[in-house]
Amino acid sequence: MTHLEEDTVKLVSTGPVSEIVINRPKSLNALNADVLQGILLALEKLSTMKDVRVITITGEGEKAFVAGADIATMSGLGPRAIADYVELGQRAMRALELTAVPVIAAVNGYALGGGLELALACDIIVASRAARLGQPEVNLGVIPGFGGTQRLIQRCGVGAARRLCYTGELITADEGFTIGLVDRVVEGAELKAAVSSMANLIAQKAPLAVQKAKTVIRQSQEGNLNAGLRLEVEGFLDLFGTEDRAEGMGAFLQKREAKWQGR
Ligand code: CAA
Repeated sequence: MTHLEEDTVKLVSTGPVSEIVINRPKSLNALNADVLQGILLALEKLSTMKDVRVITITGEGEKAFVAGADIATMSGLGPRAIADYVELGQRAMRALELTAVPVIAAVNGYALGGGLELALACDIIVASRAARLGQPEVNLGVIPGFGGTQRLIQRCGVGAARRLCYTGELITADEGFTIGLVDRVVEGAELKAAVSSMANLIAQKAPLAVQKAKTVIRQSQEGNLNAGLRLEVEGFLDLFGTEDRAEGMGAFLQKREAKWQGR
């Protein structure tokens, strides 16, 4: 097992099927800056290894894949620092999307906010039946900031993107499958085996062909993606300066209901 400098992201195995694990189970694997850097570092390291054919990514523990961007980290940041943090998140998600080999997200529990955005940046999403997925940022006074608005539109269409982003509701893996968000749903106990079997199947195929398929499928989707991602960051940062955002994140951390003022 190779541990990166930061233990918050583990490269559990390397080789034709390489596995990345986000490892902050006490915070439900929330994406602080160390995790985001760790993802970038893990992908960089894997990109130098010639025998890698597929990457899988999952969250440590039974409960969460990733419960989002780290609210405790974000709540204390000033304008400059939050802009840096969101850029870092966008970069980590983009790196998953641009990685030469397919990446499979093994969604083992909550995939919320930045956690769903991480899954959306992967090529294939396999979820345990007990997983819950959603973009609950409206409960915090913000919008998705790691590409969720754009990649949800691409993956599920504008209707589902609107519903998930406006209501913040959490949906089941089965509903995720129905709207095209999740590619396969399995029982929790079978998730590891199901992902491994899909990864091994891909790993046996002609590597250049698989990688070309990933590239051309991605390129056909690029269209306005970069412009859309920029709009999303601007929207997120606008909202970050509002009283409602401070109230929303404060309320989460104090475990109480938020009271919105609309300013
Ligand atoms: N950031 C930081 N800490 C988090 C977290 C997050 N996103 N999600 C959970 N945690 C922490 C909790 O604060 C708690 O810590 P303590 O034990 O120190 O109190 C611990 O993880 C366990 O969480 P809960 O006690 O809340 O567990 P629960 O079972 O009652 O609820 C949950 C689980 C429904 C997932 C709930 O934790 C939750 O709603 N989490 C936040 C989800 C969210 O809003 N995600 C979006 C974040 S914003 C974002 O991602 C913006 C972006 O796009 C850039």
